[in-house]
Amino acid sequence: KYYQHAEPAGFSFDNPIVGKFDRAQLQRGFQVYKEVCSGCHSLNRVAFRTLTDIGFSAAEVKAIAKQYDIPSLDAAGEPTTRKGLPSDNFYGPYANDDAARAANNNALPPDLSLIGKSREGGANYVHALLIGYKETPPKDWTTPDGLYFNVHFHSLNIAMPPPLNPDQVTYVDGTKATVDQMAKDVAAFLMWTAEPKLEERRRTGVGAVIFLIILTGLAYLSYARVWQSVK
Ligand code: HEM
Repeated sequence: KYYQHAEPAGFSFDNPIVGKFDRAQLQRGFQVYKEVCSGCHSLNRVAFRTLTDIGFSAAEVKAIAKQYDIPSLDAAGEPTTRKGLPSDNFYGPYANDDAARAANNNALPPDLSLIGKSREGGANYVHALLIGYKETPPKDWTTPDGLYFNVHFHSLNIAMPPPLNPDQVTYVDGTKATVDQMAKDVAAFLMWTAEPKLEERRRTGVGAVIFLIILTGLAYLSYARVWQSVK
């Protein structure tokens, strides 16, 4: 009875026909992912090079990739790591799921690449979850030690500690880093990682509908022409 569905957070891409990503917001969201979420969550399906789509330059992407250590083999075939390249994917903070569980009270922080599409509510859910923590659960609800009460999580007790605190990141564009702002920005970023071609898909859809309307008009005109003499 305490569970709450996510409220619409008001995203620039909400409108299914003309909605677009806000590039500045995606860059801020990336900063939040990198400085906060990436401590526990991987983003395995996203390649560094795709960050140019949200406005980073090739040099910036190179610098970002370089900050990651990617597992590799040395000349003798022994496991080692090398610096990331733009062609690599993001590499998660843990070597495997067992290590991830061991560090998180036996809960597995899911890979966030597709979370913008894989949970009901999408970006609105991610935003709501991040701002949905309550210090103290209601009297008739028990949250075991090591879990946190969150009205937007399906079981209300989540293993993820509240990840965001005011001013946790310093935005390069000067935007004030309130919890709500950071939650919205990272939710938008994770919508982009889940559906990077959202804008193209919508453009194609609008084009297809315009084409069909014109085609219907032409079909009607030829129909009228063909049956012209039949009364
Ligand atoms: C779960 C997002 C930071 C640990 C989740 C889920 C999302 C999420 C969307 C999935 C909830 C579901 O299953 O529906 C984020 C974002 C973060 C962030 C956007 C940064 C702003 C962190 C950090 C930690 C962490 C820093 C570790 C200290 C976990 C764990 C779970 C989880 C352990 C699994 C929870 C459970 O199944 O009970 N997170 N997270 N997260 N996160 Fe995070």
